[in-house]
Amino acid sequence: MKQSSKAMLLTAIAITPLSALHGQTQVEDRMTTVAAPIAASKPMSAQAGVAGTVDSKAGQTSAASPQMTRDNGAPIGSNRNSLTAGDTGPVLLEDTTLIEKLARFDRERVPERVVHARGTGALGIFRATADLSDITRASLFAQPGKETPVFVRFSTVIHPSGSPEGMRDPHGFAVKFYTDQGNWDLVGNNLPIFFIRDAIQFPDMIHSLKPSPVTNKQDPNRFFEFFSGTPEATNMLVHVYSNLGTPASYRTMDGNGVHAFKLVNKDGKTVFAKFRWISKQGVKSLTGDAASKAPPNYLTDDLYGEIASGNFPSWDLMVQTMTAEELGKLTFNPFDDTKEWLDAPFRKIGEMTLNQVPENFFRWTEQSAFAPANLVPGIEASPDRMLQGRLFSYSDTQRYRIGANVMDLPVNRPRVPVVNNYQDGQLDAAMGKVDVNYFPSVTARKAVDPSFAPTPYKVDAIVQTAPISRTEPFDQAGRFYRSLKPADKADLVKNLAGDLGVVTSARTKVIMVSYFTQADKDLGNRLAKAVNVPMGDVNRAIAEYDASLDARYGGER
Ligand code: HEM
Repeated sequence: MKQSSKAMLLTAIAITPLSALHGQTQVEDRMTTVAAPIAASKPMSAQAGVAGTVDSKAGQTSAASPQMTRDNGAPIGSNRNSLTAGDTGPVLLEDTTLIEKLARFDRERVPERVVHARGTGALGIFRATADLSDITRASLFAQPGKETPVFVRFSTVIHPSGSPEGMRDPHGFAVKFYTDQGNWDLVGNNLPIFFIRDAIQFPDMIHSLKPSPVTNKQDPNRFFEFFSGTPEATNMLVHVYSNLGTPASYRTMDGNGVHAFKLVNKDGKTVFAKFRWISKQGVKSLTGDAASKAPPNYLTDDLYGEIASGNFPSWDLMVQTMTAEELGKLTFNPFDDTKEWLDAPFRKIGEMTLNQVPENFFRWTEQSAFAPANLVPGIEASPDRMLQGRLFSYSDTQRYRIGANVMDLPVNRPRVPVVNNYQDGQLDAAMGKVDVNYFPSVTARKAVDPSFAPTPYKVDAIVQTAPISRTEPFDQAGRFYRSLKPADKADLVKNLAGDLGVVTSARTKVIMVSYFTQADKDLGNRLAKAVNVPMGDVNRAIAEYDASLDARYGGER
C-alpha cells in the first residue's frame, strides 16, 4: 500500500471528535428554518383547503423540534449528508440511516386498486332520521337521532391513481358506517344502475375499458366491441355519456347502492331494499368540454376546500322497499342491477355530513378497504348476481393489495371489539396474550348467538348456468333519454359520438346504434347521423337482434 492512500484510510476510520460534528448539526437545523419562509408565501390551507402545518410552525426553534430517529428508535445524526469516504470518495454501505431511508422509500406504494384507483376520502357523521325497526334490526336505524361515524371515499373507476379527475366515468360513492354492531359498507356509484348483471363478466368488461395491453391506451374500439355483445349495458351507457359522467364536484353527486339488499327485522321478516344518497347541494355536472379543461385535481380540491372552510357537504339517505310479492309483479327481473325500481317510492331514513379531511391520504384513503361483504345484522345480500360476486371480490383483493391484516388498520377497524381466532399473517399487530386460539374451548369461552345467523330462505331451483329472465335491456335507457332536457340530450349525443365516432369497425358501430335506437328512435337517428351510420343498416341489425332472441334469452326481451 502506498503511503498516501494509507494516510487517507486512517483519516476515514479515525473516530471523529464531537466538536467536529457541530457544524454538521447546524446544517441539519438550518434546513427547517430556511424552508419555512418559502412555504409561508403560499399557505397550505390556500392550496388544498387543509389546515396548514408548515406556516404555523415556521418559527419553531430547533430546541422545540423532536430529535429524529431511525425506525429502531435510535437517534439520527445526519439526515442530509450520506456517510462517504472523504470529500470525493464513495458512499459506504455501513450508512444504515441512508440504507433504511432508501429502502423504506422503495416500498412506499401498495398496488393501486384494480379499479377505482383515483379517489379521495373524508370523515363524517350519519344521523338516522327514522325508526326503521319495523323492517330491519340494523342498529344504526334503531331510533331517529342515532349517530354513526362514517368514512366516505369517492372515486373514478377506470383511470389510474394519478389520472386527471375530469375523465368521463361512473363515480364511486363508498360509505363505511362504523356501527355499534360492526362495519356496514355501502359501496355504490353516483349512477343508479350498472353495465352488466353477472359478476362472471366483470373482468372482461374492465379489460375492455382499461388501456390496451399492446398500446397501453384506452381504446373505444375495444370497449364498444365488448358492449356490442352486451345489450344490457345500454341503460348504463346513456347515463355515463350524459353529463352525469362528469360531475361538477363530488359534493354535487347523488349516490346509489345499485343492488337490492335484504332487510330483516327482529322477527325474521324480510323485505328487499335499494338505497340512494340525495345530495343536499343539488346534482351539478360539467359538459364534456368543461370537464376536459378542469384542473387535474378539481374534485379533490373542491371537497377538501369546502370542508376546510366549514361548508360541510351533506346528503339524505333514502330507501325504497318492496316485498317479495311486489317484486314478482315487476315486468323485469328485480335483482337485475341494470335496472332501477323506477316506480317504487323513496323514504328518507337519515342524513350524512362530511366534516373532516383525513390527516393522511395514504393511511386513510389509500388503505381504506370497502367491501360489500361488510354487512351488519338486519342487512343481508339479495340474490343479485353481481352483488353475490362482489361479496367475494373486494375482501379478496384487499388481502392482496394491503395484506391479511387489512382490517386492523385504523380506517378499516370496527369501533367495536373484534372477537375471533384469526391470527398471524403479514404485519400482525394483535396485542395481548392469547393461548386459546381455537373454538370450542371450555377454558376460554367465546359465545356465538344463533340469532345472528343468516336468515333462512327457501330455494327450489334447477342448478344451471343460464341468463336471467325478463331482461328488458332497452326500456329504461329510453325513459332516461326522454327525461333529459334538450341541451342534455344534445350533450349525450355529442359525448357518445365522440367515442363511437373513432371506432373503425362498421359492424360494432351499427350494432351500438341499433341498441340506442331500440332505447329511443330519436336518440338512434341523431347518433346514426353523428357517426355516419346508414339507418338501413341499423334496422337490419335490429331485425337480426330480434331473430336471435330465441337462442339467447328463450324468446324473452
Ligand atoms: C361483480 C362486479 C364487481 C366486481 C368484481 C368489482 C370489483 C371491485 C374491486 C376488486 C375493487 C377494488 C377494491 C379495493 O381494492 O379495495 C372495486 C372497487 C369499487 N367498486 Fe367494484 N366491482 C364490481 C361491481 C361494482 C358495482 C356494481 C359498483 C357500484 C354499485 C361498484 C363500486 C365500486 C366502488 C365504489 C369501488 C371503490 C371503493 C373504494 O373507494 O375503495 N363495483 N370493485
